[in-house]
Amino acid sequence: MKGFRLAVAAALCVACTTGTPKYEGPVYLDPNADIEARIDDALSRMTLDEKIKIIHAQSKFSSAGVPRLGIPELWTTDGPHGIRTEVLWDEWEQAGWTNDSIVAFPALTALAATWNRDMSALYGKSIGEEARYREKDVLLGPGVNIYRTPLNGRNFEYMGEDPYLSGQMVVPYVQEVQKNGVAVCVKHYALNNEETYRHTTDVDLDDRALYEIYLPAFKAAVQEGGAWSIMGSYNLYRGQHVCYNKRLIMDILKGEWGFDGAVISDWGGVHETDAAVKNGLDLEFGTWTDGLTMGATNGYDAYFLAKPYRDGILNGTYTTKELDEKCRRVLRLIFRTAMNPDKPFGAINSEAHYAAARQIGGEGIVLLKNDGAVLPVAASARKILVVGENAVKMMTVGGGSSSLKVQHEISPLDGIRARAGKDVEVRYARGYVGDVSGSYNGVTSGQDLSESRSAQELIDEAVSLAKESDLVVFIGGLNKSNNQDCEGTDRLAMDLPYGQDAVISALAAATPNLVVSLISGNAVAMPWVDQVPAILQAWYLGSEAGNAFADVLFGDVNPSGKLPFTFPKKLSDSPAHQEGMTFPTRGKYFYQEGIYVGYRWFDEKEIEPLFAFGHGLSYTQFEYGEAKLDKTSMNENGTITLRVTVRNAGDRAGAEVVQLYIADAESSLPRPKKELKGFQKVYLAPGESAEVAFTIGADALSFYDPALPGWKAESGRFEALVGAASDDIRTQVAFELK
Ligand code: GLC
Repeated sequence: MKGFRLAVAAALCVACTTGTPKYEGPVYLDPNADIEARIDDALSRMTLDEKIKIIHAQSKFSSAGVPRLGIPELWTTDGPHGIRTEVLWDEWEQAGWTNDSIVAFPALTALAATWNRDMSALYGKSIGEEARYREKDVLLGPGVNIYRTPLNGRNFEYMGEDPYLSGQMVVPYVQEVQKNGVAVCVKHYALNNEETYRHTTDVDLDDRALYEIYLPAFKAAVQEGGAWSIMGSYNLYRGQHVCYNKRLIMDILKGEWGFDGAVISDWGGVHETDAAVKNGLDLEFGTWTDGLTMGATNGYDAYFLAKPYRDGILNGTYTTKELDEKCRRVLRLIFRTAMNPDKPFGAINSEAHYAAARQIGGEGIVLLKNDGAVLPVAASARKILVVGENAVKMMTVGGGSSSLKVQHEISPLDGIRARAGKDVEVRYARGYVGDVSGSYNGVTSGQDLSESRSAQELIDEAVSLAKESDLVVFIGGLNKSNNQDCEGTDRLAMDLPYGQDAVISALAAATPNLVVSLISGNAVAMPWVDQVPAILQAWYLGSEAGNAFADVLFGDVNPSGKLPFTFPKKLSDSPAHQEGMTFPTRGKYFYQEGIYVGYRWFDEKEIEPLFAFGHGLSYTQFEYGEAKLDKTSMNENGTITLRVTVRNAGDRAGAEVVQLYIADAESSLPRPKKELKGFQKVYLAPGESAEVAFTIGADALSFYDPALPGWKAESGRFEALVGAASDDIRTQVAFELK
């Protein structure tokens, strides 16, 4: 014992002479103290080296803790649709674990298409439990970049073209994920609206478009959702990389919005130390360290916020002011997650999660067209032909960082066969060949999609079988391959790839009982739209894809999805592809269309879309009464309540998304003809009516005025338009803002 005392005394003596901390042993900071007190306590104990270590990565997806103080490291994981497979310490390659297969939930475009805040909450709860069970602290998602062009390779990960819809649909997801003691990392903040040159595109746009279109969903995630972290995007804004862009990070996110969480760089989004120090980047991930290879093992000390920053502090270039602020935010993130004493334990691959995936998928599928009630499948149908590669191809593998290793994925063909029952013959014809590959970072689909027959032989086979079938279900669309719906690339055209149009046209000539189902995260051109009686937009639906798809096809679920973005008739109708605009964007790029994104553009230019924002049919019909207001005018601090009755006039239960748009009759600055400012989904039995009420406040009437600068609602006349789609207004009523 005496020897031990001497040793401790010696250690203390050494400590007091060399300035290293006195021996304290593993100090477990009081887990029940309030977080800010715990931050002050930890910060007061940490050395310079310990502070530097927690503000940058230590592996591909983790950053260091403070082992000496019992502060654990922070583990992040992709992605927005499910928990990414474990990868090797320094690599993207999967680690080959056998306990990390999970549930793939539908793509966020499908979630947005439900227009149902409850589905967003269910989604966040479910994916949050899977992240917690996999012991991850930060979920790198959801993504809410605005759908500016139909060619963006990552639109499938986002929530569409409208800032209000995206904002409303992201908040419950954020809140429910974080109830698991898992932080969301809302991405990619901001203006990351294409993939090809995402690392170098230098975006500029007018402030109205910035504040009215591209920021609101992030603002809602922060201010209403309470997001604990946010991911800086790769691109530049006005000449400065966004991960440390003074205006976006310091002035707006942390200044105007009061964001108290951590800003995490996208992987490889940091290219310098000075701006990263001064402009609010809190955690640096994914930096390609030595410049000689794409990634160097143990190159983490070379990170811009590692040794270069430490040297800058030691040589007096920097004080520890910014460092302490970064550490505060990282510690706050750790205390909210890894060291959260109240966090639950989560679950993966549970029946509840599969049920959630199936329900969200079923609610997100959009019935675009159904002439002659081709759908739902007639009870008399005895021979169903399924055509198309997307009926069988796994879609959870590929597409970039959102790729997953699932416990299972039910294909549409599997789902149809399971639902059709034994007295219905379900046959399959390939129809076309898309991409026979199926692997990503070492995760393989295990499918052999090889095909030796020619395109014409495949069409001939499908057509001959179609002629003897009661119903033909074509299942095509896009996939997760390069230049399809895939990170790092954009689409090259809006047309369906792989010669699908020829197959669809041939089938339409062969049978009147044809439904075309598109599995995609983007709008596509449909030259055959007038020849096809029924069209479903089916999205990437995840592990339960086939079951959700069959639920709608057979009518077990009455489709209630609505489009979260416009389908143009042709690419040049899109505001991002108007005359004189180039795509993909390279170098400096100005968003010429300004606030006129999506339906705002189609309304302004009076261009008829192929299918409009908010469009979606049902197997029943809904009738709208007259919209009524509780008063005819309001003042800026007041509200007006709009009530409208909706009735299910058909013979089948169903759900309708009642949409409220606001039109500003006269304004000092140009405004879109109408803007989405409310929506509610109502479930109605046959013949049932419900009254839907919207409370309209000044925020629904406001626009951003750069001259103030700020938001303002101008007095004058407004119109409230209520309908089933942006191009299907059923009733409208005017009122005054005093
Ligand atoms: C990727 C993506 C981002 C992802 C991160 C980690 O490049 O842009 O969404 O979360 O890197 O995989």
